[in-house]
Amino acid sequence: MTTQTPSHDEARAARGRPAEVSIRDLTVVYRTDQGDLPAVSHASLDLRAGEITGLVGESGSGKSTLALSLLNAVPSPGRISTGSVEVAGIGDVTRLDGRRLRRTRGSALGYVFQASQNSLNPLKTVGKHLLDLGRSHEVEDLRGLVRRAKDLAERMGLDADRVLDSYQHELSGGMRQRVGIVLALVLNAKVLILDEPTTALDMISQAAVLDIVRTVHRENQLATLIVTHDMGVVSEVADRLAVMYGGRIVEHGPAVDLLQRPSHPYTRALIGATARIVGDTALARALPGRPPDLTTLARHGCVFRDRCPSAMPVCEETDPALVEWSPGRFRACHADPADGAPGPEAATAAVPAPRAQDDATGERP
Ligand SMILES: Nc1ncnc2c1ncn2[C@@H]1O[C@H](COP(=O)(O)OP(=O)(O)O)[C@@H](O)[C@H]1O
Ligand SMILES: [Mg+2]
Repeated sequence: MTTQTPSHDEARAARGRPAEVSIRDLTVVYRTDQGDLPAVSHASLDLRAGEITGLVGESGSGKSTLALSLLNAVPSPGRISTGSVEVAGIGDVTRLDGRRLRRTRGSALGYVFQASQNSLNPLKTVGKHLLDLGRSHEVEDLRGLVRRAKDLAERMGLDADRVLDSYQHELSGGMRQRVGIVLALVLNAKVLILDEPTTALDMISQAAVLDIVRTVHRENQLATLIVTHDMGVVSEVADRLAVMYGGRIVEHGPAVDLLQRPSHPYTRALIGATARIVGDTALARALPGRPPDLTTLARHGCVFRDRCPSAMPVCEETDPALVEWSPGRFRACHADPADGAPGPEAATAAVPAPRAQDDATGERP
């Protein structure tokens, strides 16, 4: 697995900057027959300008719910129950509503939705989407907006005039993803959030989209969050990684260090799985068992214990807190980090061979 980052110096510089987005102790619940159940529990994370953060975990771990919380856009029957999301120059978006919230979306936070492949209205051209976006944000200089969109599009290798005249069905998957990024950034958002940006794409388009994300990120000094179930994707682009399981951020830290020295048993299994089988569904296939559903998440104790090779009695009773076990490295696990913290190979050994029918991500077409 490669662990390239655009520039280690840039990433280091980013770490000293104040956060563009500061998520603190965020809990998001969905209303169900069994009451309010948490899909995200007590999550804290910072996004900094100049830094790409990768949020990785299996399908169902709460990544999209967390990402949508940054826009205060968790769909009903979900709601943010505790915590805050401070956005630089805006304030706590969990307290905004109505017009201010709508303006924040787009102008401060650019969002490319999961399944953005189909997020454009099929009856409107890209140009019409752009003008509608401008009007909804009360942009006076619509010509300037179109110029900026064309400039962004050209820099992403698109034929801007053609794309603005096109309908969704006239664009390839990779082109739609680029259009999504243009629309996310055209109002000068400093934060770019991409939910599963490469999931529906073939390998060549995946590489092209990641390349573009890296370039626009760097050129605009964005704070970028890439949400994906694919460890391979984040290991290529992220400066910082946050690993999510069962609604918790179970580990986070600088990407290169975390990939070389994974500490949480779940992270080790993910990396082991990805390293062993190079393939797009490797991650989901190589981990035994299923990610927890909302009802099991509400139990006491560590959410990963049922699938954990290092589970101990204490894991049944107490949910481990996220603590800094080494400078800049955080994890939520009761096991001693020094205690046989094996590398990815050892983690792989703890994971049974994949079963073909076990591919239950449900995220690929
Ligand atoms: N609208 C909803 N109603 C009820 N439960 C939901 C809803 N959306 C997501 N969930 C549940 O919340 C959990 C997290 O989902 P999600 O944030 O989509 O995870 P991910 O993006 O990591 O796949 C899952 O258990 C999912 O079933
Ligand atoms: Mg998702």
